[in-house]
Amino acid sequence: MSAANGSGKLLPMKIRAETAEDNEAIAHLIRAAFALAEHASGQEARIVERLRAADRLTLSLIAEDGGHVVGHAAFSPVTISDGSTGWYGLGPVAVLPGCWRRGVGRSLVDQGLQELRAIGARGCVVLGDPAYYRRFGFRAGPDLVLPGVPGEYFQSLRLRRDAAAKGVVAYDAAFED
Ligand SMILES: CC(C)(COP(=O)(O)OP(=O)(O)OC[C@H]1O[C@@H](n2cnc3c(N)ncnc32)[C@H](O)[C@@H]1OP(=O)(O)O)[C@@H](O)C(=O)NCCC(=O)NCCS
Repeated sequence: MSAANGSGKLLPMKIRAETAEDNEAIAHLIRAAFALAEHASGQEARIVERLRAADRLTLSLIAEDGGHVVGHAAFSPVTISDGSTGWYGLGPVAVLPGCWRRGVGRSLVDQGLQELRAIGARGCVVLGDPAYYRRFGFRAGPDLVLPGVPGEYFQSLRLRRDAAAKGVVAYDAAFED
């Protein structure tokens, strides 16, 4: 796998699980990315820290380029009011400004979804721009609802055929204000 750095030069890019040494770099890049995002609460780095502290970071993947952390994606368990299990929420996803539009976000999400499939996950939800998440197969629909957000921004992806789920979705308490 490869991506290009800020100068456009192709470099090998590695997607791997976070280690304790990455925590500071992850927080820094999340703050830098969301400072430029259209929709941001300013709490994204804190959410990842809270998930980590509560041992609810099912996957915390980083993209490393030339030894630098340039991207991060978090996946954590969600609950659904119909009692369905094995569903996860993707987010936050952040790529260091300067490294955007070079496939870093795509590599992180692809790898995360592959790893979720490998652990038998039934599905994944995401709150975000439909134009971005559509490419991974996420679709908005009436079956899964996140209260308080416009329906088109809340999308889901079944990872298994037997993954029919219907109801109100709740993220981990780490996402609460
Ligand atoms: C969104 C983000 C993670 C994308 O990372 P990235 O590494 O630039 O993404 P990729 O290079 O894999 O994909 C880029 C593609 O997505 C498109 N894209 C990027 N952000 C998009 C958005 N918000 N809406 C629609 N399309 C978007 C680009 O146009 C590009 O399309 P192309 O390949 O057809 O040219 C990054 O821009 C970021 O960190 N943004 C700030 C934080 C944020 O908004 N996170 C997502 C919250 S839901």
